[in-house]
Amino acid sequence: MTTAALALRPLGEHLGTEALGVDLSRLDDDTFAWIAKSFAEHPVLVFRDQHLSAKDIASFGRRFGIPRKHALVKYRHPDYPEVSWLTNVEADGRIDWYGVKRATEWHTDSTYEKELPVLAMLHALEVPSKKGGTMFADMRAAYDALPAAMKDRLAGLVGLHGRSSGPAGERLYGADKGETERHYGEVPRPAVINHPVTKRPILFVNPMHTHGFQGMARDEAWPLIEELATFATQERFTYYHSWRPGDQLMWDERATMHRGAGDADPQERRVMMRTIVYPN
Ligand code: SIN
Repeated sequence: MTTAALALRPLGEHLGTEALGVDLSRLDDDTFAWIAKSFAEHPVLVFRDQHLSAKDIASFGRRFGIPRKHALVKYRHPDYPEVSWLTNVEADGRIDWYGVKRATEWHTDSTYEKELPVLAMLHALEVPSKKGGTMFADMRAAYDALPAAMKDRLAGLVGLHGRSSGPAGERLYGADKGETERHYGEVPRPAVINHPVTKRPILFVNPMHTHGFQGMARDEAWPLIEELATFATQERFTYYHSWRPGDQLMWDERATMHRGAGDADPQERRVMMRTIVYPN
């Protein structure tokens, strides 16, 4: 048991926390319990200097629930399909331009799936010499700071979610949203949800997948989605994670939005492994 050495250190002014004293390749139950407890309050948790295989990432994911295959077939790991590649490099070494732009608009993952994921994680293998970070927004803090009139308006709203069919999804991908195994329909979700562990209210509208609200015309809905995204991604609610090889970062899929910063030189390799975890 390694509990004595465990500690948390803030990374960003508002969000982002480093978990110290953890070796994820030799995780015991007490350390896992400490991570799970810390994660409920610190929705972007970073473990430095971890050297993990796809198998290790899948096993760490399984501690929290069920890691699921990524919707984008192309990026699945051949041996561990519940682990996928986040990369800007094709198998033949050329630039993967879809990988360069992928996920560079604000979103919460998979809100168009019937079941919501619990968390996702990224493990950095190769990172650009400058920039190439991932940005996170605290949707609990954003909700808390909304004006009372907006909170009242959102209380009765149900968002409509599709796969990259919101304003940011259309802007980023247009008609080329990548090859998936199945077609995703529309899923309704309250615009405000409560965190399953802490019960804190969360603004649950993201401009990638939320494409409308029940009973509201698109002319009204799209500006509202954009307004909420602009509000929630102000600097005071966000954290920019600058990657180091060996970083293992996990984020809470309910409490946060994220995006690739998309600010690195595409000629420089950016290669990570990723998994997304659903409830048991
Ligand atoms: C993602 O996992 O959505 C992409 C994050 C990134 O490219 O930094």
